[in-house]
Amino acid sequence: MKLLITGGMGVNGAVTARLMVQDGLRPVLMDNRLDLTLMGDIKDQVDIVVGDICDPAALEKAVDDYKVTHIAHLAALMPEPAEADPRLGVKVGVDGTVNVLEVARAKNIKRVVFTSSKAAYGEILGEYAPPACKPVREDYPKRPADLYGSIKVCCEELGRYYRETYGIEFIALRFVSIYGPGKEARHGPLSFYGQLIERARRGEQWAIPQGGDQLNDAVYVGDVGRSVYLAVTAPAPDEWTFNIGTGKASTPREFLNAAAKLFPDHLIELGAGPSKLGRSKQSYCVFDISAAKRNIGYEPAYDVEKGVRDYVATLDRLGR
Ligand SMILES: NC(=O)c1ccc[n+]([C@@H]2O[C@H](COP(=O)([O-])OP(=O)(O)OC[C@H]3O[C@@H](n4cnc5c(N)ncnc54)[C@H](O)[C@@H]3O)[C@@H](O)[C@H]2O)c1
Repeated sequence: MKLLITGGMGVNGAVTARLMVQDGLRPVLMDNRLDLTLMGDIKDQVDIVVGDICDPAALEKAVDDYKVTHIAHLAALMPEPAEADPRLGVKVGVDGTVNVLEVARAKNIKRVVFTSSKAAYGEILGEYAPPACKPVREDYPKRPADLYGSIKVCCEELGRYYRETYGIEFIALRFVSIYGPGKEARHGPLSFYGQLIERARRGEQWAIPQGGDQLNDAVYVGDVGRSVYLAVTAPAPDEWTFNIGTGKASTPREFLNAAAKLFPDHLIELGAGPSKLGRSKQSYCVFDISAAKRNIGYEPAYDVEKGVRDYVATLDRLGR
């Protein structure tokens, strides 16, 4: 197997690549900027292509040069940059995904794994919202509340078309909120759990008036990387779209308590109650992850404490 990871130097790409390297594989990472901050430790055990997924010839060349057999398509713009420049958001998201699918079709690449998001569902309402948090299944209505979610839905549908028309095994993974090293630096305010951990580690003063009890499913990037790896390697599944989370609600308080075990002198004050942070439409929820378990053998390995410990150990190891 030769895996091409688009967006391979990003938060999730670097973790997926590291898991592959640990298993003796040498993935090809394609990204439009050279940034080794999250993968300095494995840079000699991967192949790096600096290239843009909006450039079909660059994609084709990477596939030919490295005899790529599988693609994990992670490259995308995050919600804020996509909304700041909708044409670019759609170009990278939608055109970029068509470019990936077209190269897969032209080069007989059997499987493409696409990283989608809970943003595909949009607002989470009623018994699916906190406090009841009835687990959200993949058939929850898709009514994206922002451009990012609309792009994800569009890409999922394009992938379904290519699967049904050309037989490309297109698998979409919809992630809940993710926390992991690098996310705070790259995605800033989108990364509340990461900020709690990193500001506690830096001993920064931070008073958050409320939100400590906000229930939500937050998955560690180690589980995200594992889910991508499983989706790439699992035998052809019966279903094609999977929610990826922990299947459980956690609270920011639990994250702060886990960080406090490592940094007992931290200076963060976290008020009680639900969160007022985040985007206008509420999307706090818990994912039903049984389809991913059934089809690709996904099982989360990190609870909050283990995730926070690994997060900090990774920052230490990378010298961040
Ligand atoms: N982090 C989350 O909470 C989250 C949640 C749900 C879904 N996802 C999805 O997971 C995927 C990876 O996210 P991440 O957190 O690793 O983000 P990231 O921003 O860390 O990584 C994305 C990478 O894509 C690269 N990229 C952007 N435009 C490109 C282009 N035109 N050509 C080539 N590379 C390009 C960026 O340089 C970056 O390294 C994305 O598709 C994202 O939408 C992330």
